[in-house]
Amino acid sequence: MARFIDELKRTHSCGELRQDHIGQEVVLFGWVHSRRDHGGCIFIDLRDRDGLTQVVFDPAEAYPEANRARSEWCLGVRGKVRDRGQKADGTSLHNPNLATGAIEVLAEELVVFNEAQTPPFLIEDEIDTNEDKRLQYRYLDLRRPVLQRNLRLRSRLNQATRQYLYDQGFLEVETPYLVKYTPGGARNFLVPARLYPGSMYALAESPQLYKQLLMVGGYDKYFQIVRCFRDEALRIDRQPEFTQIDIEMSFINQDDLFTVLEGLVVRLWKELGVDLTERYPGGKFPRLAFDESMRRFGNDKPDMRFGLEHIDLTDLVVAHGGGGVPLLEPIARKFADGTYRRELPEEIVKAIRVPAEHKLSRKDTDLLEKLCKQNGAKGLARAKVGEDGQWTQSAFAKSITEELRNAINAACDAESGDMLLFQFGPASVVHTVMDKLRMHLGKKFGLIPEVGTDGDWNFLWVVEPPLFERDGDGWAAAHHVFTRPHDEDIDKLATDPGMVKCYRYDLVLNGFEIAGGSIRLHKPDVQKKVFEVIGLSDEEARDKFGFLLDALTYGAPPHGGIAFGMDRIAMLACQTESIRDVIAFPKTQRANDLMTGAPSKVDAEQLAELKIRVLE
Ligand code: AMO
Repeated sequence: MARFIDELKRTHSCGELRQDHIGQEVVLFGWVHSRRDHGGCIFIDLRDRDGLTQVVFDPAEAYPEANRARSEWCLGVRGKVRDRGQKADGTSLHNPNLATGAIEVLAEELVVFNEAQTPPFLIEDEIDTNEDKRLQYRYLDLRRPVLQRNLRLRSRLNQATRQYLYDQGFLEVETPYLVKYTPGGARNFLVPARLYPGSMYALAESPQLYKQLLMVGGYDKYFQIVRCFRDEALRIDRQPEFTQIDIEMSFINQDDLFTVLEGLVVRLWKELGVDLTERYPGGKFPRLAFDESMRRFGNDKPDMRFGLEHIDLTDLVVAHGGGGVPLLEPIARKFADGTYRRELPEEIVKAIRVPAEHKLSRKDTDLLEKLCKQNGAKGLARAKVGEDGQWTQSAFAKSITEELRNAINAACDAESGDMLLFQFGPASVVHTVMDKLRMHLGKKFGLIPEVGTDGDWNFLWVVEPPLFERDGDGWAAAHHVFTRPHDEDIDKLATDPGMVKCYRYDLVLNGFEIAGGSIRLHKPDVQKKVFEVIGLSDEEARDKFGFLLDALTYGAPPHGGIAFGMDRIAMLACQTESIRDVIAFPKTQRANDLMTGAPSKVDAEQLAELKIRVLE
């Protein structure tokens, strides 16, 4: 029988011991974080996922194994907790930066469970080893305190989610991962069905249709912490497999749903030690209409922690007939009859005012212009505002009428020394370019709190988006086709689809979309009208969603739901820049697992069994 583990059981974790434990005998298991030889005695900082404890081996010669031990060896120690005491000159030896910094363990017995190779990088928070290397040895990377902290917090968020929703009467139900492929939405991963050569399962991109079917089945108040799979272009906040807190409810309206969800977020932030109700009385988050969000920020997930808002000048420019500026006149002419907002593709004019306190050199504005061009702009029009409201450094300065110039200055609240930056043209390009410009300037001027500084938690619901978006000459569903239009807009389905608003909502935190959902369309007759707008024939609709359409005819209750991006929430809660920092085994930007080598080739026999031949 082995002495450690069989006889000596772990009594505490390495992050647990405090002054209260002084005098107790303890058994710790962990890894050598660092080892220092202080002449007569040896100090080892022993680490586990909970923290570090200083262990003293005194006298050194009584513990030859402690002398031999090196970084990342795996040890067991029995000893007594004691105060770290003070130096000869009376200064304290306590380490205030460490949770266990007041105590140490004086070892009495030691076992080496396993030696370790020298790790390819230091197991410390501040390392500059490139991420590929760290992902290749993820099991070592996971030993770093920062990742331990992140995964611990994420585990607490999971617990709090389950507890909160359970207390609210929700039922946790699992739904299939292997599902029928349905077109639209994100690209699916496909899984060959061995028993049906040529047929494929799709990996579920979300439990969307199943959770609606659960509502039809009567399982009101469903939730699931669920993995979703999407084969899409990856970004810093995207992974090919990611986790949602997926929720669906029946017999509720948008406000009811928001109340439950706001409660969940307030509960989650409690885990961070943050009381959101101080900032948001009653735990209610502000709402911003989609159109206003586009107008003021150029996107539907605005970072509201700083200003530099967009100013829409379209009306002014049209009213002034372009104000003598050759580049603006065509837009004004196009919309001379005042109906320009219905014209598609819509063209708009926007400005950002950069206050005089933020200096922009010629070189800066050239770089800004480059950024605009990278995002699809033709250039970056600008004007420096003088004492008398005159413009300099501007291609518009010579031709613009005094009236339009004064009107623009007034609309922008422009003062002497300010710089105005303009974009004009197709709305989608102008919004995107001005959004990128605003974010760039916000960072450049230091207006956006750095990641990792204690959070300015800025929550926002973005609501009431249009149900459809332009698709060539026709219309496409802007989100999914089962989103419920506002009742008062149902008539417009036939006459003016572009103006139909819907019950779709996103929850935004500091410029990240952390959740999205909708109230669903549960009435077959309205559903039919929506399909007509997007040009989906009955046959096609049946082919795509037959099972859901059938289900809706069996007394489907009014219902709606939402899904939170758990990885994004954890990323923001942990104040880290990458979603990979809150996932134990993430994939790279190229969707590889560098540790295991997935995806990998399989042998010809396996392919043959699936009746698959690979095209070279
Ligand atoms: P949606 O597609 O908006 O909605 O997804 C919900 C939330 O999931 C997160 N998310 C992602 N996180 C990491 N990597 C990804 N690739 C990724 N894609 C999305 C985002 C997003 O807000 N079924 C609907 C929800 C509903 O209508 O109830 C859905 O999946 O934070």
